[in-house]
Amino acid sequence: MESILFICLGNICRSPTAKAVFDYKLQRAGVTLRTDSAGTTGYHQGSPPDPRAIHAASEWGLDISTERARIVTVEDFTRFERIYAMDRSNLADLRERMPADASAQVDLLMSLAPDYGLDEVPDPYYGGEDGFRRVLDMLETAADRLIDELGARSRP
Ligand code: 4NP
Repeated sequence: MESILFICLGNICRSPTAKAVFDYKLQRAGVTLRTDSAGTTGYHQGSPPDPRAIHAASEWGLDISTERARIVTVEDFTRFERIYAMDRSNLADLRERMPADASAQVDLLMSLAPDYGLDEVPDPYYGGEDGFRRVLDMLETAADRLIDELGARSRP
């Protein structure tokens, strides 16, 4: 696998954080993957991540302040091998706009980590700081499971 796109609603909270957590974990594991993030809406197009997301990521030593929100495009469905949605609503929106020639595998992010016991990454936008910390915890587990999966596939 070479590329993953992370999707949420606004592309200012969950998905830019997902990109940063996965980039960090993949790099530490010595795995090279192209990653990006986008939203199903353009409400925040061109904006940096939510200050609470920037703060929560900074507690982890990650700087997401230079990310800029964008809306998912039809081309994304062929440019990325996997597209991971944060919640069922994002997944339904993605499936609705999936072109006939889409090659990407589209799924919920937490399908990577069924042991976590939650299949959606809850939207932290209307909540407090705790919601952002929980998002990071979930993303970390999902990234660890992906690395396990890639390691298992590369072993002879
Ligand atoms: P995200 O969070 O989808 O994780 O980026 C949200 C950001 C903005 C809004 C909703 C969710 N909004 O309604 O503006």
